[in-house]
Amino acid sequence: MTAPTLQQTLHQWFTPAWAAEGIVEEAFGWLQPGDRVAEPSCGDGAFLCALPDSLDVVGVEIDPVQADRARRASGRHVIVGDFLEVSVEELGRVQAVIGNPPFQSETVAAFLRKSHEILEEGGQAGFILPAYILQTSSSVERFHSLFSIRQSMIPRNLFPGLSLPLCFVTFTKERQRRLHGFMLYREAQEIAAIDRRWKQKVAAGRDSRGVWFPVVREILRALGGCADLEQIYGSIQAMRPTANPHWRAKVRQVLQRHASAFERTAPGQYQLREAVAA
Ligand SMILES: C[S@@+](CC[C@H](N)C(=O)[O-])C[C@H]1O[C@@H](n2cnc3c(N)ncnc32)[C@H](O)[C@@H]1O
Repeated sequence: MTAPTLQQTLHQWFTPAWAAEGIVEEAFGWLQPGDRVAEPSCGDGAFLCALPDSLDVVGVEIDPVQADRARRASGRHVIVGDFLEVSVEELGRVQAVIGNPPFQSETVAAFLRKSHEILEEGGQAGFILPAYILQTSSSVERFHSLFSIRQSMIPRNLFPGLSLPLCFVTFTKERQRRLHGFMLYREAQEIAAIDRRWKQKVAAGRDSRGVWFPVVREILRALGGCADLEQIYGSIQAMRPTANPHWRAKVRQVLQRHASAFERTAPGQYQLREAVAA
């Protein structure tokens, strides 16, 4: 058996110069002269060279051979070491973090947590990542607890010999967090948190009156034929509620649209009509 190469152990896939330049222009054009930027795993310096001279840039690289190449090519300060161990004081506060980190899920998550520590409020990390990092709604939710996230597909043949779908993802540190380019992620998390009695129904149910009609009807039956909205929501939600899960609006819609089945007896209160209750 042959020993693994550095490409395999340290994930040394170096970004083509033209692609690094394109990413800096397209995603980091908002940086101002004098802003500080960190490249946490700078390899031989593709991003260090692509960033304009007017920026204050620091690179980190665990492999001293690549660190030396990056330093000589870019003329930038490059720290030799593990990004996760370099102190926040040495890295300094930054407006941006940019790069192409090692692709293991846990390393990416740790790089993002460390980036969050050094980023100023409003700052942004932008990474080339394998698409599998963003494939489940639960992993996106974890990143979203720290950042707004925006993703774009990029061609995997940027790296000859790599067979993973790739994306470029920006993570913005801001109070009001949003997701861009993530259809159904939030909804998938909210459905995962509903009572298991209803999960099968909202997936496999086929009802032209809408997904939530049979669920609401069954809940009203179980509650003795009459209930208010909070009781209905409470019967649906099994786990930690998000602030305003999307299905609450769906439940209200079903109750309002099907007056032949649900009678509004008071504001926010509904009763099953007898023919439906039977
Ligand atoms: C995928 S390459 C990308 C290099 C460069 N960012 C680029 O885009 O060309 C990842 C680099 O991270 C380095 N590396 C791996 N683990 C690291 C760590 N914990 N801290 C700093 N650098 C690391 C590897 O040696 C490798 O050069």
